[in-house]
Amino acid sequence: MHQDIEEILVSEQEILEISKSMGAHISKDYAGKTPILVGLLKGCIPFMASLVKYIDIPAQMEFMAVSSYHGGISSSGDVKIKYDLETSVNGRDVVIVEDIVDTGATLSTITKLLLHRGAKSVKVATLLDKPAGRKVEFVPDYIGKTIPKKFVVGFGLDYEELYRNLPYVGVLKPSVYQK
Ligand code: PRP
Ligand code: MG
Ligand code: MN
Repeated sequence: MHQDIEEILVSEQEILEISKSMGAHISKDYAGKTPILVGLLKGCIPFMASLVKYIDIPAQMEFMAVSSYHGGISSSGDVKIKYDLETSVNGRDVVIVEDIVDTGATLSTITKLLLHRGAKSVKVATLLDKPAGRKVEFVPDYIGKTIPKKFVVGFGLDYEELYRNLPYVGVLKPSVYQK
């Protein structure tokens, strides 16, 4: 385990199991359709890559870069689009793929935006849900694991742009950010 991690919350094996069951669930729900999977960069990358391997229906992969944390350990609530979709979602079924839903600000903003742009449906698939962090009411449609209100990193989740490459999700030692 990495020296800055105090506890592993979601292991590599568990992430694999989550990807398989969520992928099967999405494939079943969207059978006969061609959804657009919209990954929110950068946090979505590892989970998007893991999840799509278990989606066995035709699905498009697109990305948007959205930021609410601006580096720190708490969300600013101010959601910025840094890189927009290059395709129209008008009339399409969209599944937003995320690493975590925390305050709910990012997902509630982007869901509304894509519906406003004419998406036929918008659902959210997230590896982690931290309901105790909510400031904006938001319920994801597909949840890998519900976690307590701890600052977690790994498998896409960063602290000041680091730790995204850990193959598991773990709790960051407070000594790392209390400097
Ligand atoms: C993180 C995370 C989610 C969002 C969740 O992204 O990846 O996208 O915050 O937080 P919220 O529910 O409080 O809005 P961040 O803004 O740090 O950008 P990143 O994905 O590039 O790290
Ligand atoms: Mg993100
Ligand atoms: Mn982040």
